[in-house]
Amino acid sequence: MTKKLGVLLVGLGSVNTTLIAGVESIKRGLTPATGSLSQLGRLESIPDHPKLTDILPLTSLDDLVFGAWDIFPDNAYHAAVSAGVLSSEMIEAVKEPLEAITPMTGVYDNRFLPSVTGPHTKAPATRAAWSEELAKDIASFKQQHQCERLIMVIAASTEAFQPLQDCHQSLDAFEAALAEDSPSVTPLQLYSYVALKSGIPVANGTPNYTVETPALRELARQQQLPTAGSDFKTGQTLFKTVLAPAFKQRMLGVKGWFSTNILGNRDGQALHHPGSFEAKEKSKLSVLESILCPKENPELYGDIDHQIQIHYYKPRGDNKEAWDNIDLEGWMGYPMQLKINLLARDSILAAPLALDILLFLDLAYQKNASGPQDWMGLFFKSPMALENQRQVHAFSEQYQIFQSKLGEWIE
Ligand SMILES: NC(=O)c1ccc[n+]([C@@H]2O[C@H](COP(=O)([O-])OP(=O)(O)OC[C@H]3O[C@@H](n4cnc5c(N)ncnc54)[C@H](O)[C@@H]3O)[C@@H](O)[C@H]2O)c1
Repeated sequence: MTKKLGVLLVGLGSVNTTLIAGVESIKRGLTPATGSLSQLGRLESIPDHPKLTDILPLTSLDDLVFGAWDIFPDNAYHAAVSAGVLSSEMIEAVKEPLEAITPMTGVYDNRFLPSVTGPHTKAPATRAAWSEELAKDIASFKQQHQCERLIMVIAASTEAFQPLQDCHQSLDAFEAALAEDSPSVTPLQLYSYVALKSGIPVANGTPNYTVETPALRELARQQQLPTAGSDFKTGQTLFKTVLAPAFKQRMLGVKGWFSTNILGNRDGQALHHPGSFEAKEKSKLSVLESILCPKENPELYGDIDHQIQIHYYKPRGDNKEAWDNIDLEGWMGYPMQLKINLLARDSILAAPLALDILLFLDLAYQKNASGPQDWMGLFFKSPMALENQRQVHAFSEQYQIFQSKLGEWIE
């Protein structure tokens, strides 16, 4: 295969501008690739633990070309400045490549994003017409940058939660709904559909249903394309899926887990809307039940009060703060508590995940793997499972699965 991998980003906000700035900064030797498994990780199942970059055909950072859609017109430089994640010194150091990335107009429907109104959108049209425009955007990006392969990463604002409907149950039903311009087909589903139709693997970093729907799973299978999702597992949920297995393995009871967050970036603003929060809440809530298996030990985990809150608190910007209070129960029923106070940087955690996801999904494509890449579950809050398989949430188990899949692909 020739080298250039075009990375089509849906959304040019905090995560994606931090991703691009980080890649450009690493390429120039200005910053290390901390937090990235693809760049620093090793294969632990063979002696000497070789670096993944030495034994797998992972695309080099020099061969990535970024493109994006956004509902705001700012180029990646201005978008990175307004995101407020990186220092001006860091942004200025990579100003030139950031300035070169101007987003294509986005597909927008305010029913799914009432709290953010962007001016840089495709003219009102039917979903079928938008699909054609997106397909043209993709074809011209590929042609302009002479890309051999493309990959799509969705990291746009969280859309209002919409349960799966009849039109999401099969590809025929989805295409009929699209042709009828049904509002059940969300903008993020449209991007995913067009990408898969154009032969492009798709990863979903948002908590919304896109490639996870049965309809788009069917399309991915038909097109023999790999997919991955959903919702980047960055901070609070990462630590939840590290700690909860330890409680279970030591047979400590969990009576309650109260998780709250404050953040003031645009994602926080979108999540302030109850519909968008509902999508995020569903993705964050699912992990404990799957790890603790209350049915197996109802006396320890049968009645957990698991609550999650996200507050939009402007002064904090991207520097999110999360608190967890865990009510534990020990020998003879004695209560204990564990408190976690995480002072994180949301997009600093998410950007290396986005990089890993796109490189490993492209690796899957090169290896002719298709359908949901369940071995990439360690990157996601709500990992895609194969049909009739359970979702694996425990981080250490996910890491073993990841390592063993890569072991099959060494060259
Ligand atoms: N930051 C994190 O740590 C983190 C962690 C897990 C998941 N996520 C998810 O990743 C996504 C992006 O997060 P972020 O912090 O970059 O948010 P952000 O608000 O900074 O950026 C999102 C961008 O998407 C754009 N957008 C919205 N609707 C669009 C559309 N229809 N088409 C094209 N662009 C559109 C917005 O204008 C914005 O620039 C969110 O769904 C978020 O929940 C983020």
